[in-house]
Amino acid sequence: MEKKIKALQEKMEEALGSVRSKEELAEFWQSYLGKKGSIADLMKGLGAVPKEDRPAMGKVINEFKLQVEEKYQNLRSKLEELELEARNKSEQVDITMPAVRRSMGTLHPITITKNEMIDVFSGMGFEVFEGPEIEDDDHNFTRLNVAKNHPARDTQDTFYVAEDILLRTQTSPGQIRVMDSQKPPIKVLVPGRVFRSDSDATHSPMFHQMEGLVVDKGITLCDLQGMLDKFVQAIFGNDIRTRLRPSYFPFTEPSVEVDVSCFECGGRGCSLCKGTGWIEVLGGGVVHQKVLENCGIDPNVYSGFAFGIGIERIAMLKYGINNISLFYENDLRFLKQFKD
Ligand code: DAH
Repeated sequence: MEKKIKALQEKMEEALGSVRSKEELAEFWQSYLGKKGSIADLMKGLGAVPKEDRPAMGKVINEFKLQVEEKYQNLRSKLEELELEARNKSEQVDITMPAVRRSMGTLHPITITKNEMIDVFSGMGFEVFEGPEIEDDDHNFTRLNVAKNHPARDTQDTFYVAEDILLRTQTSPGQIRVMDSQKPPIKVLVPGRVFRSDSDATHSPMFHQMEGLVVDKGITLCDLQGMLDKFVQAIFGNDIRTRLRPSYFPFTEPSVEVDVSCFECGGRGCSLCKGTGWIEVLGGGVVHQKVLENCGIDPNVYSGFAFGIGIERIAMLKYGINNISLFYENDLRFLKQFKD
């Protein structure tokens, strides 16, 4: 028996010496320390040993078992250490390497300008209303006091979708829709896309406008000017002044064109203001009595003012952009320059 143990010990040492992986170590365990392993076999063989020798023999086998277990454990710890080392090595990160940059999108300059305008007006109590881009002739023209044969229709080159159905040429039909659905006092903004068959460096077949409408008792042109002063100062700077010029729109009476003092030259005259010192920014006026009547509002009780601002125009002035088509080309070199 002792010889058998000695032989087994040699075999065990050899086997252990050739273990290189956890899998091989598990195999080693099975064949020596497992239930059907060599040591269990030795234990079974004890039955054949003379009774008086059995305790001593059992002790020898036990000691051998402990020895194998200890070697097994040592090797296991060593293998785990090596494994961890290898993993650490393979997962090493070079913290001096430049990081991968993720480029962030930005809002479109038209959206930035629109939001800024809404911010200014909502600070004065305006709410935002949105009307449909496909309108009927009635809302876009007739009820705004532009009758079927009115010459003003020629100034807005209209895209018709069907008879009496068109792509809105202005956000002004939003006024009608608001007055149809709300009673005064009214204070709304109607931002949105508008469409005209027109195209050059400062005109595009699709562009954006922001309509404003205030209807209440005792509203006058002075209210319009006071409020627009605040608006242009918020957008272009505190020292900006406004000037109203008489104009004509069918839905306002009186009608005005609003100029701002040139923020480039301070009013002395430059290429931006074409030497005049003033830049035209929007149209507006006192809501025509007929428009109020068309919406069931009594012009003897209520009055109002309205205005329409081209969002592209404001953005072009604000950012010094000289061609409107830049807004629609999606050129990242252009778009990346605008941060909210
Ligand atoms: N709708 C006009 C246009 O597109 C702009 C305008 C002028 C709107 C006067 C108004 C206004 O509300 O009162 O040219």
